[in-house]
Amino acid sequence: MDLGVLRGVRLMGSKPPETKGAALPPLDATKFPGHLAVIMDGNGRWAQAHGLPRIKGHEEGARSVREVTEECAALGLGRLTLYAFSSENWKRPKNEIDFLMKLLRRYLVNERRTILENNIRFTAIGRLEALGPAVLAEMEKTRELSRRNTGMVMCLALNYGGRQEIVDAAQRLAREVAEGKRAWSAVDEAALDGAMYDPAAPPPDLLIRTGGDQRISNFLLWHLAYTELWITQKAWPDFKRPELHEALRDYATRARRFGGL
Ligand code: IPE
Ligand code: IPE
Ligand code: MG
Repeated sequence: MDLGVLRGVRLMGSKPPETKGAALPPLDATKFPGHLAVIMDGNGRWAQAHGLPRIKGHEEGARSVREVTEECAALGLGRLTLYAFSSENWKRPKNEIDFLMKLLRRYLVNERRTILENNIRFTAIGRLEALGPAVLAEMEKTRELSRRNTGMVMCLALNYGGRQEIVDAAQRLAREVAEGKRAWSAVDEAALDGAMYDPAAPPPDLLIRTGGDQRISNFLLWHLAYTELWITQKAWPDFKRPELHEALRDYATRARRFGGL
């Protein structure tokens, strides 16, 4: 595959972005979230409702990942962060965890082409070492091949916990203080921000949670301070282009005040 040809295929013009699939009412691209974060929840309940084993919900969820990612890239969003596996998800039965890891590896291999064809830069956050060498190797490959892409950044949160990220950042800064490289008074908001997993990432503008539960589940705790929330009853396997557009249309109507007037 000639990666040079695949890179930079999307040319931004003044026309509304053309996206794949059935026509939907046009969106106002000036009111898109620069950074969209998603808690992809409800796979198991979706499967149960269809009389299927939970893993079938994860499989259909992977198809939503592809469709939503392609659509966000085509619309020209800056960054998409997807919560794929939390630090607490290790509490699940071993067979479900094994399946999720297998699915993740399969995703990283099979969707590599989609990522490159859509000029997407792939990255990941979380305590990644725990994912094991096979997953890590595929992840590194996708990250490396997409490194110079100039379109949307796609970030998978894997073995990710918001509290764990804050702990990791605090420990980094504490070590700098202990080694005399940083004054204790220089452990401020900017320093903590800079010690997070991906300091270059702006905070999310919009957080979507599927599956109807009204909680954060240890996702991006530091970064969500002023993020707009959109919770839908639809399970993640049922969240496709039209549902994404609905959330983006609602976000466009929000008045963000950040504590001001
Ligand atoms: C989200 O769906 C996927 C992961 C957490 C990996 P769930 O598996 O949590 O599905 P529900 O919430 O049990 O329906
Ligand atoms: C949140 O879903 C984590 C991911 C989507 C990866 P959970 O299903 O783990 O959340 P809880 O347990 O319902 O809070
Ligand atoms: Mg869940």
